[in-house]
Amino acid sequence: MTALKGTLPWDWYSGTIPDNAIIDETAYVETTYSFNLYRSHAPVGLQIGKGSSIYLGTMFDVGTYGRVSLGNYSLMNSVRIICDEEIKIGDYALISWNVVLMDTYRVPFNPVERRKELVRIPKRKLRNIDAKHSARPIHIGANVWIGFDACVLPGVTIGEGSIIGARSVVTTDVAPYTIAAGNPARVIRHLEA
Ligand SMILES: CC(C)(COP(=O)(O)OP(=O)(O)OC[C@H]1O[C@@H](n2cnc3c(N)ncnc32)[C@H](O)[C@@H]1OP(=O)(O)O)[C@@H](O)C(=O)NCCC(=O)NCCS
Repeated sequence: MTALKGTLPWDWYSGTIPDNAIIDETAYVETTYSFNLYRSHAPVGLQIGKGSSIYLGTMFDVGTYGRVSLGNYSLMNSVRIICDEEIKIGDYALISWNVVLMDTYRVPFNPVERRKELVRIPKRKLRNIDAKHSARPIHIGANVWIGFDACVLPGVTIGEGSIIGARSVVTTDVAPYTIAAGNPARVIRHLEA
C-alpha cells in the first residue's frame, strides 16, 4: 500500500500528515488541520484505509499513547475523535457531523484535582490533558451509521451494521444490527443482517 505523506496539494492549511500516520493514497483527507490536536507517539497513531474520506471539521485529538484506525470506504464529516488509548472503526462506517467519539474523559472526577489540573494547563506547552489511565477503547463495527450530534462514551462497542440515532448518547454496548437512540441510547428495534 502507498501512503499519503507530507502536505496535501489541495490543503488551505499549511500542515503535514503526521509521520506515524498510515493513510492509504486512495483516501481523501480534506485538510491537515484535522491533525492540529494530534500528538500520538504510538508506532502507528492513525491508520486510514482505502477510499475513506475525512471531511472538514474532523479533529483527531489523539493523546501520546492514542491509536485511531478507520477501515476502508468509511466517511467522517466534522467528527471529534478524542483518544488516549484506542478508537477502532470498521469498513463502510458512516459518521455524521458533530459526532463525538471519546475513549477518555481526561479530566479528574474529584473537584479539587480538577481545579489543580485547570491551574496547571495554561503553564503547559501542550494545553492538553492525556489520561491513558482512565481510557477505555471504543470499537465501531463495519457498516455502522452514527447520526449527527451523537456522542459515544469510553468503553463502548457498537456492533456491525447498527444505527445510532441523531443526538444520542451511547453509554453501553450496542449489539450488531440494532437501531439505538436517545440519551442514554436504548434499542429501538433490530435490523436484518
Ligand atoms: C435512528 C433513526 C435512523 C430511526 O429512524 P426510524 O426507524 O424512522 O425511527 P422512527 O421515527 O420510526 O422512531 C422510532 C422510535 O424511536 C425514537 N427515536 C428515533 N430517533 C430518535 C433519536 N434520534 N433520539 C431519540 N429517539 C429517537 C422515536 O421517537 C420513536 O419512539 P416511539 O416508538 O416511542 O414513538 C432516525 O430517527 C435518526 O436519528 N436518523 C439520523 C439521521 C442523521 O443523523 N442523518 C445525518 C446524515 S448522515
